[in-house]
Amino acid sequence: MLLWSILAIMAATPAVVVAQQGQFAIPLTGLLNQRIDPIVDPDNTKDIGHLHTIFGANNFGTKLNTFAQMQKATCTTAATQADKSNYWIPSLMFVNPDGTYEPTWLQGARAYYMVQNLTMTEPFPEGLRMISGTATSRTVGRELRTNGIHIESEIYSGANKGNKALGFNLPNPKYDNRPPPDQIRLKIQFPGCGNGQLDSTDHFSHMTWPLNSNNQWDAQFGIKCPPTHPKRFPTLQLEVYWALYTGQRSRWRNGANDINVAFANGDTFGGSLHADFVNGWNTNVFRDAIKSTVCLNSDATNENCPAFKPTVNYDTAKKCRYAGMVLDENSDVGLGYYKPLKNLPGCNPRWDESGGSTKPTACPAGYVKPGWTWPNVAYGNWNWPLAVDFPNAPSGKPSDSWLSQFAATLGERFVAWGSVASTPGGTSEDVKNNKNLATAPNKVQQVVGL
Ligand SMILES: *[C@@H]1O[C@H](CO)[C@@H](O)[C@H](O)[C@H]1NC(C)=O
Repeated sequence: MLLWSILAIMAATPAVVVAQQGQFAIPLTGLLNQRIDPIVDPDNTKDIGHLHTIFGANNFGTKLNTFAQMQKATCTTAATQADKSNYWIPSLMFVNPDGTYEPTWLQGARAYYMVQNLTMTEPFPEGLRMISGTATSRTVGRELRTNGIHIESEIYSGANKGNKALGFNLPNPKYDNRPPPDQIRLKIQFPGCGNGQLDSTDHFSHMTWPLNSNNQWDAQFGIKCPPTHPKRFPTLQLEVYWALYTGQRSRWRNGANDINVAFANGDTFGGSLHADFVNGWNTNVFRDAIKSTVCLNSDATNENCPAFKPTVNYDTAKKCRYAGMVLDENSDVGLGYYKPLKNLPGCNPRWDESGGSTKPTACPAGYVKPGWTWPNVAYGNWNWPLAVDFPNAPSGKPSDSWLSQFAATLGERFVAWGSVASTPGGTSEDVKNNKNLATAPNKVQQVVGL
């Protein structure tokens, strides 16, 4: 454990930037929190999923979109609207002293694209998808798929000020016994070498790490790819930043065996961190950006990159509204937003470090597989709005008084679904009738490439 942590700290030191390399970062706001995973469980048929926090194109849905369908999204939560990709990661949950769960506060996210040699780096194939990390096992340090995991906790001020690199551990007291962190950062690198296929049965084997990068968290530094996966793509690094609400901070406990945070799959240890990516980038824009030293040194200031500038729109990204259906579950407690959850959504019992390397899958007593419904209320924290489902909300536009009953709990507020953004083209009926693909593709697409 210690060795991995030390390696992680060393690797976090930035490399010297020379002309052929660099990175840009795409700022992302949240699209929705849902137990949806169109790569692993299209249509939720197997119902094996956990809550994800999802970013990107607003026509994300229950089935995987084709690349062409992704291009028809009316907006994306990526600042650069030419990025119609989707990114998702398990939601970070707060664990109350009584064992109940609440969402933590999504503060923001970025998708970093790192290039070591712009001459040899090529754009991702259209529709490429991949998963880094393992959601149902914790074999960290023992298999390639987990190399990209990196968790940090940061305290902004005071005696404990500082950023702590925790490797693949969540900041529960056994691994970080400081006061509650101001920010918990879930970072994950994706493998940057590919064999040209869009996918593989484990959603990883069509990709691998660059050479000289087989240790945890250094994939961005490898330049060349092995002959089995000769195509060098940028190294994608998804970073998602979380904070605690005031009440959660006051309930944080520092006993050696206390647990304060968990991933939505139940993991309180951290080793099952994973993230999914589906490439929906406009290929010309993306190619121009990864071949431009100006863009590769623009970091998150996308407007300074000529390839991005025409479509950078932070306001559109913030207001971008999910256009699909949601699972009809936990409606009485709003996915934990206005009342703590007794159980994590789905069949995701708590999975402590002592719980072994394989994820437990028992469903809560009386569990019923949920159907699909239309969201009608969104949870908004102003900067980072997230669509969540409240199927018990009154039909039509909920009144301010109905919404206000939930606002006090977490110190934030809920807004009517219709007021998050202007009404997109297309209606619920279009979706049902497979019309108007701009807003309704998630009902019609087929999984491609496999
Ligand atoms: C960068 O890539 C080009 C083209 O493949 C190659 O000729 C060059 O040697 C590479 N540079 C480094 C430092 O690897």
